This record gives sequence, structure tokens and C-alpha cells, in this order.
Amino acid sequence: MAERILVTSALPYANGPLHIGHAVEYVQTDIYVRFLRSCGRDVVYFCADDTHGTPIELNAAKQGLKPEEFIARFHEEHQRDLRDLDVRFDYFHSTNSPENRHYAELIYGRLKEQGDIERRNIEQTYCEKDRRFLPDRFIKGTCPNCKATDQYGDACEKCGKAYAPTDLIDARCALCGTPPVRKHSEHLFFKLSRHADFLQEVLRKPGFIHPGLAAQLQGFFEKGLADWDISRDGPYFGFAIPGETDKYFYVWLDAPIGYIATTEKWAKETGKAKSALDYWAADADTRIIHFIGKDIVYFHALFWPAVLNVAGLHTPSEIKVHGHLTVNGEKMSKTRGTMVPARDYLDHLDPSYLRYFYAANLGPGVEDLDLNLKDFRQRVNGELVNNVGNLANRALSLLAGPLEKRLAPGRAEGPGRALVEAALARVPEVRDAFEKLEYRSAIRVITEIASAANGFLQTAAPWAQVKKDAEVARADLSDAADVAYLLGALLAPVTPRLSEKLFAQLGAEPLSFQALEGAKYPLLERSRPIGTPEPLLPRLEEERVNAIIKLPEGAAAPQAAESKPAKAANAEKKPAEAPAATPAPPGAGESSGEIEYDDFAKVVLKAGKVLAAEKVQKADKLLKLTVDVGEGSPRTIVSGIAEAFAPEALTGRNVVVVANLKPRKLKGIESRGMLLTAGPGGKELSLLDPGDVAPGSEVK
Ligand code: MSP
Ligand code: ZN
Repeated sequence: MAERILVTSALPYANGPLHIGHAVEYVQTDIYVRFLRSCGRDVVYFCADDTHGTPIELNAAKQGLKPEEFIARFHEEHQRDLRDLDVRFDYFHSTNSPENRHYAELIYGRLKEQGDIERRNIEQTYCEKDRRFLPDRFIKGTCPNCKATDQYGDACEKCGKAYAPTDLIDARCALCGTPPVRKHSEHLFFKLSRHADFLQEVLRKPGFIHPGLAAQLQGFFEKGLADWDISRDGPYFGFAIPGETDKYFYVWLDAPIGYIATTEKWAKETGKAKSALDYWAADADTRIIHFIGKDIVYFHALFWPAVLNVAGLHTPSEIKVHGHLTVNGEKMSKTRGTMVPARDYLDHLDPSYLRYFYAANLGPGVEDLDLNLKDFRQRVNGELVNNVGNLANRALSLLAGPLEKRLAPGRAEGPGRALVEAALARVPEVRDAFEKLEYRSAIRVITEIASAANGFLQTAAPWAQVKKDAEVARADLSDAADVAYLLGALLAPVTPRLSEKLFAQLGAEPLSFQALEGAKYPLLERSRPIGTPEPLLPRLEEERVNAIIKLPEGAAAPQAAESKPAKAANAEKKPAEAPAATPAPPGAGESSGEIEYDDFAKVVLKAGKVLAAEKVQKADKLLKLTVDVGEGSPRTIVSGIAEAFAPEALTGRNVVVVANLKPRKLKGIESRGMLLTAGPGGKELSLLDPGDVAPGSEVK
């Protein structure tokens, strides 16, 4: 039987809405799963809400809710957000479930049996007023190093120094402000230190984790692995530890067990497996792949494999770690409005844009990924809308209009057939790239295929040909449609809803990677009529993109800021956020004629290549230029340089184009962009030359 693959994304805390940073992970994983499925692999994809811990308990109490009610709200919300991002799980469960309790108890029981649980008396920070032990993040005080006030108990956000909460000057309980005391309590520890050899072996397995991370984790062994405190004293929202009074499993013990619990729930609900053990038994023939962010590597690469191993279960085969999302080059921030809730994005924009942009920027490494809103617009418009979308639209609208939706049979030879065959020859490159999580390479090949097809149409000019010899035009357009069909298949993991639309417009069955194996020209069943063409996706307009950023209440903003109810803080790692300080509004450039960098950054400059130039009738100063700006189809630009340049001197020249200028009509010709020149004007003008870079390269 073929190997079964189980894929997971990290379980989001049921403590707040998902934001576009979380989306990086779910989209990255979803693309991978869709790709594997398209290849015909046996794959299931699970996720769940991570529901336990102190921050959730406290946030629920703050809203006067039971933790169960509080997490139920996010359970609905998260599922809706993820569904609308086109992320498709086989099951989305919750760690606060009977299945999870069952497996948490079972695994704990086995750890105990194996002598891997140890009882230790430890001293911790305690608030007598709140009658609870305080996690480091619930203690605030003055940094012992730089004396910054209002710092958390684990590290200073000003100077970056890490310390123990006892080192804080003037420490206070973050909940009530009372100075905390030290108090003893018995805790249960998992003896992680006994498993150093096993873990080092796991880390050495090729493909287990990014080699850079494996090397980094090596550092923990050199210092000596510390045992792991897996219990918390009440009050705590979690599973009570069997055989103990008022002790609960620490959230990070039962959270990854949620992967198993979700498998179990899915097995029961769908009958597609007998139990979770079909996948998780030590000897099951499965590949278990966890996708996670770089902040939770320690839990997944050290604790989790050790726990599973001691419990006699299947350990993870691969851990795929991604970096964090930044927005406009900075860490996401609520005060800047860049911590964009997934719902705010979805309220304004189709998920395909974001999925495409993430894919176009994701590789297998752990570097952070930046959502620069300007790049976002440009790449999506230049590649997805103008290149891929344009190809489909050009091919299909002519076929549907003058050519009655009928395709031509495949041809024995010629450039159209060669185009399709060259595109097909690149499928293995795309497949390899997806397999290796090199999504950005996959996207590069996909856009190159689309550009080649647009170039083919540009030369074949079926819009003119259709009047001379309709059958030649039909044959050329049918070959272009074949490439569009292929692009639909290659892009399906990334932008599934675009591919579905495309397949429907082509009147064709969905095309999979599996079906592409050994596929030959022509791809489309040429005897079938095509469907009804429509633009696949509108261009991203600046206003629509900017609308996803909402400044919080109180932040003085140039535009009217929308106020929103305060959101629940997120996570045990980063709970109870500091009260949002209102930042000073960025210096509103007094009036010296100076502009802010942001104003400059609004101008999109691109390298272009002049493909053709001609005089404009009845206008001595104007030339009409055809300029390739790397967008699939070239732009028409009307420029006032006729006195300085003869048209024939311009073909082949590299130029700098202002690419985001509003289109404008000059002598009845729509000009899309402007060329940069220097000099007094008239005959004395020189054209700015960006050097020998690819058309479309950004000039900054
Ligand atoms: N609940 C834990 C995971 C438990 S897994 C057994 C947790 N939750 S989280 O909600 O904080 O994060 C969920 C996932 O989203 C993590 O993998 C995290 O790295 C990822 N991301 C959270 N913010 C992110 C960005 N800004 N950018 C990319 N990924 C981000 O951790
Ligand atoms: Zn207190």
C-alpha cells in the first residue's frame, strides 16, 4: 500500500482572531497538501484550536465568560477565517475535547510507567491577592539592566536582556499590582535530559528539519538539556492530571497531542481510519509532517519527539519551519494597524491575491517574509492579473467572440505546438519546486510559461489574423488556451479558486499534477466547446489594499481611523499585551517642500525595454512607444521626446518607467506610464538608462 501522509499546521490559540501572519502558515501548509493531493498522494491535513492555559482562562474571566464559552467563539471564527482563505482541513478540532483528554492521559500514563516523570519541589512567584502562581509574563517591574520601567518578568523589551522574574526591580503582579511573594509547590517534570541521544539522532536524520535549525538546536545539548516542567497549579484551564490534586497539564503538553486527538476525531467521524493509531502507532507506515513557525521549534523538535518516543508512538518525520511575517518591513504592530486580522483582509480582498503573494515569496528557509503593500500590488497585478489572467482572457475572449467557442484540433508542428511542448517540459521543475517548498521558484517558472505564451500571442496577433484567416487564428488561440489550461493546473495548489474558474471557462475537467505525468500535446480536448470567458481577477487597486490597515482607536491618523473594540490578547508566549501606547503621529512634514520617504515610495519606477516606437500624427513632440515592463503584455506609453529622438533610435533601449501613473489619453492614445528623462527639454534630452537589467526590475 502507498505511504500515507499526515500533515499538520500549528494549532492557533483560541484566544484571539487570526491575523495575516498566521495565514502564512496555514496557506503554506495548504498549498503543500493540495499539491500532494494533486499528485495523487494519500494525504490528510489536520489542525485544531489550542485552548488551554492561563491567558485564555484570564481573558475569558475578563469578559465574564466561562473558558469553554470563550474558546467556542474563536472555534467558529477561526474555522470561518481559514475556510475563506481557501485553507481546507480534513478536520479542525479542539484540544479541549474528550479525544485529547484521552490521549493526554494515555501518554502521561506511559511516561510515568517508563519512569520519565519526576516530582520536584520548586519555588515560584505567587500573588497572594489573586491566589495564583504567576507565569513570567504576568509579572512586571523595572529592568535590572537598563532600568526601563514596566517590563515583563522574562526579558526586557527595551534592552533585550533576559532574566529571572526575581531579578526585576520593584516587581508587581501584572493583574492586580501587588508585589508578589515566593512560594513552594510540587511540580511534575518530564525527564527530557534522559533523551538527549535519541533526540540528537532524530535531528541528524536528513530532511527532519532545516540543517541551520538542527545546528542551532545542537546548542541545547551542549548546555545540557533541562528537564521539562509539565504541570501547573490551579487555577488553570486545562486537563486535571490523574492522581493529583489541583494540578493540570501545562498547555504545551496537551497542545501537540491535539494532532493525535484530531486524527482520532476524524477517524471516528469519517470512518476513513479505525483510530488515530492507524497513523500514530510506532510502526504505522506514515509520514508525519508538522508545519510550524520559527518561534515554536523547541517544542516540536525536542519535547514532542521525546514524548512520542517514550509513549511508544510514531515520531514526526519532518518539521517544516517558516519565518514570521513582517508588514512594510516591520514587525506587525497593533498601533500601526499592521497586525491585520484575517477577517479585515477578507472583508476587502480575494484570498487568491494573498496566497499568490505568499507563494511568490516563500522558500524552504526560516527567513521572515515581508508583506510590503506596494510590492504586493505590483507583483499580483504584474504577474497574476496582467500575465496569467491576461493570457487566459485574451485567448478565450477571441475564441468565444468571433470564433464561436470552438477550438482547433492539435497541429503537427509549428510555433504553437512548440510553445505548449516547451511549457509541458517545465512541469517537472514546478513539481520539484513545490515538493521542496520552493514555492517562489515554482511561481517563477509559472510566470515564465505565461510570459512565453503572451509573447507568442503578441507575435501571432490573432486579433488581426482572425479577419484574414480565422482558422489560423483559431489554431493559435487554441494553443494559447492549452497553456492556460496547464497554468490552471500548476497554480491550483496556490490559487485554487482561480484554477476552478479557469477550468470552467475552458470547458475542461480540472487538471492535476498526476494527470500531467506523461501528458502530451494537445492538452485540451479540442472537440469540446469552451465555456464563457470572464476576467479571472480584477487588478488590485491601491485604495482597496490600503483599506486592510485599520489604525486602532486613539492613534492619531491622517485618515479617519476606525475604532474597534479592544481585541483579546494572544497567547501564552505573548499574553496580556502592554496597554497600547499611542505613538506620536509621524512628523507631518511641516511645509518646507520636503516629503516623507513614504511619499517617495508611492512612485513605482521600473526598468523597461522599448520594443517599438512611432511618431504620433499631428503632434510634433510626441512618440508612441511600446515598452516591455515585464508584465506579459507590453504597455503603450506616449512620451514628449520626439524632438530629441528619432523613433528608430529608440527600439531596444533600456528606460526607466513611472509604472503606477494613472493612465492618460494623449492625442486619443491611452498612455500607461511615463519615461524618465534629464535635461532642459526640446532637443536636449537624455533618457535615463537603468543598465542591463530585466524589464520589470524595480528602480529604487
Ligand atoms: N498554540 C501554539 C501552537 C501549538 S502547536 C501544538 C501557538 N499558537 S499561535 O496562535 O501563537 O501561532 C500559531 C502558528 O502561527 C505558529 O506556528 C506561529 O509561528 C504562527 N504565526 C504566528 N504569528 C506569525 C507571523 N507573524 N508570521 C508567520 N507565522 C506566524 O504558537
Ligand atoms: Zn495579583
